[in-house]
Amino acid sequence: MFDLERFMADCHAARSKRSPQAAVKEIVARAVAQPSDVEQALGTPREGQLITLYRSPDLTILNLIWAPGMSIYPHDHRMWAVIGLYGGREDNVFYKRTAQGLVKAGGKRLETKDTVILGEKVIHAVTNPLSQFTGAIHVYGGDFFAAPRSEFDPDTFEERPYDAEKAKRLFREANDRLHAQQAT
Ligand SMILES: [Fe+2]
Repeated sequence: MFDLERFMADCHAARSKRSPQAAVKEIVARAVAQPSDVEQALGTPREGQLITLYRSPDLTILNLIWAPGMSIYPHDHRMWAVIGLYGGREDNVFYKRTAQGLVKAGGKRLETKDTVILGEKVIHAVTNPLSQFTGAIHVYGGDFFAAPRSEFDPDTFEERPYDAEKAKRLFREANDRLHAQQAT
């Protein structure tokens, strides 16, 4: 059984470990190994959502629900992140900075039960390639909402300050599309 309070307490305690991200990866991997338990505790996904489960200056825990087909443009975090999937799939495209600007640098497909650590320099774009929801737990080694960071235009790769309102709008638009499809 997935106990959310226990999970958050474990992540909190992991901050004092020598490698907090490795300790958090173990905690998240253990949780998503039983994906239906996580879904039961967090609720069955019904629309795209970004839910803050925990937020402090050195730790943020989010429940991300990616709507079917939803994508987010390249962005960085400037802190380590651990991502674990308890449903669906996340296709990550990674980028690196070069003298010529941003260039693609590989990708990683995450399936249900997968867990990955993203280093603090990672720049990625994420797509849910499925026609069903993707449910993820994202843990960050800092205050995800307060730290200054960047997003990049998906076509020109032009860098600009991360706009949290725009990201929220992305979820609203994905849900609008979803509701429009459901109505037809
Ligand atoms: Fe991200």
